[in-house]
Amino acid sequence: MCGIVGYIGHREAYPIVIKGLQRLEYRGYDSAGVMIYDGEDVKVCKTKGKVVDLEAKAAIEMKTGGTIGIGHTRWATHGVPNDVNSHPHVSNSGDLVIIHNGIIENYAPLKEELIKRGYVFHSDTDTEVLVNLIEEIQKNENQKLGKAVQIALNQVVGAYAIAVFDKKNPTEIVAARLGSPLAIGIGEGEYFIASDASPFIEYTSNAVYLEDGEMANIRLHKKIKVRKIQDDSLVDPYIQELQMNLEQIEKGGYDHFMLKEIYEQPSVIKDTYRGRLHANEGIIQMSGIEDNLEKFLNADRIIIVACGTSWHAGLVAEYIFEEFARIPVEVEYASEFRYRNPIINSRDVVIAISQSGETADTMAAIKLAKENGAFVFGVCNVVGSSISRESHAGAYTHAGPEIGVASTKAFTTQITVLTMIALRLAKAKGTMSLSDFHMYLQELELIPEKVKEALETNDRAKEIAATFKDAPNCLYLGRGYNFPVALEGALKLKEISYIHAEGYPAAEMKHGPIALIDEHMPVVVIAPKQGHYDKIVSNIQEIKSRSGRIIAIVTKGDTQVRDLADYVIEIPETSDALSPLITTIPLQLLSYHIAVLRECNVDQPRNLAKSVTVE
Ligand code: F6R
Repeated sequence: MCGIVGYIGHREAYPIVIKGLQRLEYRGYDSAGVMIYDGEDVKVCKTKGKVVDLEAKAAIEMKTGGTIGIGHTRWATHGVPNDVNSHPHVSNSGDLVIIHNGIIENYAPLKEELIKRGYVFHSDTDTEVLVNLIEEIQKNENQKLGKAVQIALNQVVGAYAIAVFDKKNPTEIVAARLGSPLAIGIGEGEYFIASDASPFIEYTSNAVYLEDGEMANIRLHKKIKVRKIQDDSLVDPYIQELQMNLEQIEKGGYDHFMLKEIYEQPSVIKDTYRGRLHANEGIIQMSGIEDNLEKFLNADRIIIVACGTSWHAGLVAEYIFEEFARIPVEVEYASEFRYRNPIINSRDVVIAISQSGETADTMAAIKLAKENGAFVFGVCNVVGSSISRESHAGAYTHAGPEIGVASTKAFTTQITVLTMIALRLAKAKGTMSLSDFHMYLQELELIPEKVKEALETNDRAKEIAATFKDAPNCLYLGRGYNFPVALEGALKLKEISYIHAEGYPAAEMKHGPIALIDEHMPVVVIAPKQGHYDKIVSNIQEIKSRSGRIIAIVTKGDTQVRDLADYVIEIPETSDALSPLITTIPLQLLSYHIAVLRECNVDQPRNLAKSVTVE
């Protein structure tokens, strides 16, 4: 986690670094800091809090002029969030300044050794150890910054994306990555360094994404030099043209990124299937699948690995793959899978789902799968992300940048991609009748319109939110395809409103959670007409007879549930298998409005970060 930004060029660095940090705040926002080199000395300002707090402090404490700068927004791992533990960290001599995203696992023995050599530490961070280790190597071995960084990184165990500046040679920034992302923007006589391309999108559309184990010397008026940290071999940097634009990363008139992203779903679902789904011709074409069709068709099973919301999309996919393509599917939390000595073999296909493409546990799970000979297929949103590159093949979701920490459009676009894959495999395997295949293609094509219609429930969701905003607990129930949606609805509520919520398969309620139900307990029941309607109606009766307060998501025109529930939200009808794409919309809106009414920070909930690059 954490976001890092750097600039070296001819413009004033401070505003570029600050704006960049604001765009990267989704990665962490418990403290922030900046270093500017003014031509003579380094000026550092850092603080607990957000980038706005940093700006306020810098306005009082610091001269901000200078054309070289680095900055950091933090999600604490080592050391509590406070001013001292904030980055940048400065070496004992005051010459070296570092920003770091990641964890140095062996920092303790390194620190002990440095203390023996007279180094003094001011913070509790692993990063301060790294910058002093680099300094020690520079001094002892009389090395230039780049070489000293390289030697130091070969001694550390862990994950990092770093940028280091040396006052003694102030025309260079050295950057390196292992396990945390790092992009270098290449402008005219200027370079940008950042955890993703959003901080420099208005300055250049050319970027180099460092690969794991690579470092770069970024010098004024010189071409960047990229080399492997381990063996010093030079790498020809691949300059990529960026697809992102400025509009995509701004709020566009919405109060929050989350709301903007909820409303983007009709158009991004269309982007997800554009060029892949040809309903009239009865074709689904995805190059990552076509090129590896045999792998999927010969697979003994599919293992899906993911975390959080992406794991919920994986659960929906399990139901879809098994029903459509009759391939056995297991869905695993990546963090459990990687540590439980799972049985994996070369006839397994592993699908890794990740919005960011950077989640450390998911990354580790796919490395493990590859080591055991499995074929790995990535479903990622961020183009060029680590997981997309580590996978043998994959399909992007094309949802555009998701900045709100709570995933919304990532979920529906992941389900869209996974549904298309299942349909393609069903066709190839002959496990679905041709008429059903065509029906699903037509249905999928209509989903954006139906999502648009489901978004019209916004006012209703707001009204209901006002009634339930102070509830201490909430239960979400669904069956079949909508059981994972219940889990996702509960996750959305707890992460942004801090209300305790649980998702459950509706029938399972009788085996425990029913004991929680009384007149104070709101129960959100996902009850569309398709699927196990009669069963869920019985579950609603069970809640009602225990005085639970029922908020039901129902198909337009439903009267039976309307008579039982306290509140209903009507959504358009679609087939059971595709219903999660619609039923999830009012749940996103409900949690959004509850969080707003509770005055929570919707886009940056406490303790969370968008990209979980630590395990
Ligand atoms: C929840 C949320 C998280 C992520 C999880 C995985 O709203 O955003 O649960 O889904 O951290 O992240 P990715 O998909 O980037 O691997």
